[in-house]
Amino acid sequence: MTNPMPTDHSSAPVLEALAAYHEAGDVPFTPPGHKQTRGADRRVLEVLGPAVFRGDVLATSGLDDRLSRNRVLERAEHLMADAVRAEHTFFSTCGSSLSVKAAMLSVAGPHEKLLVGRDAHKSVVSGLILSGIRPVWIDPRWDTERGLAHAPGPEAYEAALEQHPDAMGALITSPTPYGTCADLDGVVASCHRRGLPVIVDEAWGAHLPFHPDLPSWAMDAGADVCVTSVHKMGGGLEQGSVFHLQGDHVDPERLSSRADLLGTTSPNVLLYAGMDGWRRQMVEQGHRLLGAALELAEQVRTELAAVPGLHVHGRADFTGPDKADDLDPLPVFVDLAQLGISGYQAADWLRSEHSIDVHLGDHRRVGAQLTYADDAGTAGVLVSALTELASRAPEFDPPREVHVPTGDRLRMEQAMLPRDAYFGAVEDVPAHAAAGRIAAEMVTPYPPGIPAALPGERLTEDVLAYLRSGVDAGMNLPDATDPSLGTVRVVAE
Ligand SMILES: Cc1ncc(COP(=O)(O)O)c(C=O)c1O
Repeated sequence: MTNPMPTDHSSAPVLEALAAYHEAGDVPFTPPGHKQTRGADRRVLEVLGPAVFRGDVLATSGLDDRLSRNRVLERAEHLMADAVRAEHTFFSTCGSSLSVKAAMLSVAGPHEKLLVGRDAHKSVVSGLILSGIRPVWIDPRWDTERGLAHAPGPEAYEAALEQHPDAMGALITSPTPYGTCADLDGVVASCHRRGLPVIVDEAWGAHLPFHPDLPSWAMDAGADVCVTSVHKMGGGLEQGSVFHLQGDHVDPERLSSRADLLGTTSPNVLLYAGMDGWRRQMVEQGHRLLGAALELAEQVRTELAAVPGLHVHGRADFTGPDKADDLDPLPVFVDLAQLGISGYQAADWLRSEHSIDVHLGDHRRVGAQLTYADDAGTAGVLVSALTELASRAPEFDPPREVHVPTGDRLRMEQAMLPRDAYFGAVEDVPAHAAAGRIAAEMVTPYPPGIPAALPGERLTEDVLAYLRSGVDAGMNLPDATDPSLGTVRVVAE
């Protein structure tokens, strides 16, 4: 007998199947080779604990039977879809980095056009490289005064759709890593008028469906596919990601098949369990937990705003005409320009002096991510450390200046298809001599992970000077062939 699709959100099918597996005392002659802690080294167990190994079972012929007849994963995905008002949900154990590629491949194929906001994450660019999709870049809304970008507005997508009637669909990132949200309704309306699907990279928005005071989220805005990292603003384990689907612009079988192309055949059940349990927690307690988190964020913002030298970015800075449409207040960004120190210096100091890790440090600010898991204790640690930072800032060495170009000078010509530039003949040239050459690699300040240069773009002196000065100031460029940017990999001439 097959289990019917459940609607009871007190149930957590993956966790229940795992408990039943342990109860039955299955003896695995299958991977994983540690065989339920028996083979785990004592010193590893001392750090990880036995629960990690006990929960690490094979998905089929382990958590479920050989033919997945108990539909454990399917039931958990169904409950997740029901919880967030989607029609289908797919769990992924390779982060939104995989989910977003599966979504892109379900909408466009090699040489077909996809409209993509140029503030897309590097995983989207990897998707372009692997697939051979031709990006039609949409310029973000650039805030010159603050030196950061918000997602493009609907008018930019509308104009691009007019110009590229052969585009297969659109991809937009919202929220951005800075917590700013796009006018998704407008973008969806433009695309749907032409029968085209919209993918929303909502990696930072796992919590949005669970509280009405948070910005509206992609499924409610009518988007077709939405990708979410449950491990970022949600409580899943690292790499736990979902993609949701609704409507009839994207076929569920096609999306599932594209994900199958990219995914592992050995998914980590711990990640499934983390997502399944988090869905239950949010359905049952999300409103209360997120309500408390919103109050805490408000309090943290008020306390930090009262510290001389700190400027807390809020709605007035980030939303309004030509800026973002809405703001998630849980990521708290503090501008340090008045203190005369960089976000790189502040992030290093907070870790070395206070064992505090902030999510994002850039040339002039730090961003601390609050979630439903924070409380007065953790918030107090953050506020007191940033208060001390403000008083100690005069002791810091003056930061190296980062030459951040204006938005129009950050944009470079896409001279070749990303795939062709990446896979063709390449050479490494000194960065000071690379202007005018076509990049053959991504060069990405991380975090937030938005490539400043990507394969096929013709490099300009403005962007190279920005990156070189950034590295000198403490910027992290982990994906560049030479992270110190002495050289850049370009298309061979
Ligand atoms: C906007 C955006 N999309 C996608 C990703 C990839 O997500 P994951 O780390 O879950 O692979 C990230 C990661 O930071 C991101 O910021």
